[in-house]
Amino acid sequence: MDYKNLKPFPEGFLWGASSSAYQCEGAYLEEGRTLSVSDTAPVPEGTTNFNDGVDHYHRFKEDIALMAEMGFKEFRFSIAWPRIIPQGAGEVNEVAVKHYHDVIDECLKYGIEPVVTLYHFDLPQVLQDKYGGWASRQCIDDFVEYCRVCYKEYGSKVKYFLTINEQNMMALFQGAQYGSEKNQWQANHHMLVAQAKAMILCHEMAPNAKVGPAPNITAIYPASSSPEDNLAAMDWDQLRNRLFLDTAVFGTYPEALLNWWTDKGIAPDITEQDLEDLKNGNPDFIAFNYYGAGTVKYINEEDGKKIKSDTANFMGGLMTYPGMSSAVSNPLQEKTSYGMGIDPIGLRVTLRQLWERYHLPLIITENGCGVPDKLEEDGTIHDDYRIDYLRRHIKACQEAITDGVQLFGYSPWSAFDLISTHQGITKRYGFIYVNRDEFDLKDMKRIRKDSFFWYKKVCESNGADLD
Ligand code: BG6
Repeated sequence: MDYKNLKPFPEGFLWGASSSAYQCEGAYLEEGRTLSVSDTAPVPEGTTNFNDGVDHYHRFKEDIALMAEMGFKEFRFSIAWPRIIPQGAGEVNEVAVKHYHDVIDECLKYGIEPVVTLYHFDLPQVLQDKYGGWASRQCIDDFVEYCRVCYKEYGSKVKYFLTINEQNMMALFQGAQYGSEKNQWQANHHMLVAQAKAMILCHEMAPNAKVGPAPNITAIYPASSSPEDNLAAMDWDQLRNRLFLDTAVFGTYPEALLNWWTDKGIAPDITEQDLEDLKNGNPDFIAFNYYGAGTVKYINEEDGKKIKSDTANFMGGLMTYPGMSSAVSNPLQEKTSYGMGIDPIGLRVTLRQLWERYHLPLIITENGCGVPDKLEEDGTIHDDYRIDYLRRHIKACQEAITDGVQLFGYSPWSAFDLISTHQGITKRYGFIYVNRDEFDLKDMKRIRKDSFFWYKKVCESNGADLD
């Protein structure tokens, strides 16, 4: 529906941007940090690994000062488990504990709210080696103990904790590592229980803080108006979205999905205690990452098995589930040069669906335009494509707010350039350019892009000035 007048962004709206530890910190083996599973995963040829990041570990003060200059009200970053507890469980690394105190204090100094992700793709490798990571129930306890350290240290300063970043992307696109579908959903179940217990503990230990999940959520369109495709869209929505939010919010698995898994003999083993934990772990808000809506068509078991899923571009959700759905490229959706959908209306649809299903306050913790930027000879970066992308998505947020959605923050990806999960440093998202290439670290100088000056106006006008 069209409106004659849009509501303004609410007072105190959290404008800012996001990052994750292993993609930006560097210093990957400094001051006691050990490897995470993301550090050891192979990277595509021609792209850098994550070891040096963009040296945010040493330059966080400079980075936060630039965010303050932009008028940020929040900064989302993650704490690295392999820094805080280098062996995954047991001894706490006090140097790392102090480091994140310093980061948090630096944010607070400027009135920037730290939005802290507890787990962003960086399981300590030692736990993967020791017991197969999330395949084991032991990982639940170790994660909760790590969270206990974070709440004890930072619970009085941090108002917003995010449990696990994009559990759904890990479960769907890295599930093959568990050897069978049954094991895949069992590992995912362990993570869901760990998340519930982390939320319970947060409420006990840090009563002034709020906690919520941070999956990657997107509206699902049917590829055609056929009844089959509509059902396929509904099913994929259950597997991609509701599995992660119904469990977090209601403490229950989506019924049809669980029945389908049971029919296939791949349902996870769920104990009475698990159900109790899932029921008692209640989020205060939902954080979600959005890049572009997905589109699916129905596919039967036989045809589905013939299709090789392309998991390279996981953002587009190119995945086939035989007997359920197959993701297709949507010809009506704009795309970035990396093939990621550009779909602001999809964001409004997603916001509406989340609000209408769960009635919890929402914050967007990722959204953004990842493309190569050009550093001009005069030291400027003209990223008008990024401004256009963000402007349209912010407008969609405002429309959703006018629809009645309770949205309290917008934290796009990313505050400054960092290492992409699949395309190195060439695929940039930041407002702040970092002067390094794939293999030449150069001087890592921070340079304000055109989008920096534009976003500064957005933050300072509370979203009223999008020109
Ligand atoms: C999200 C992740 O999936 O998308 C981030 O939470 C990631 O870690 C971001 O960097 C953008 O994806 P990519 O592959 O372009 O880096």
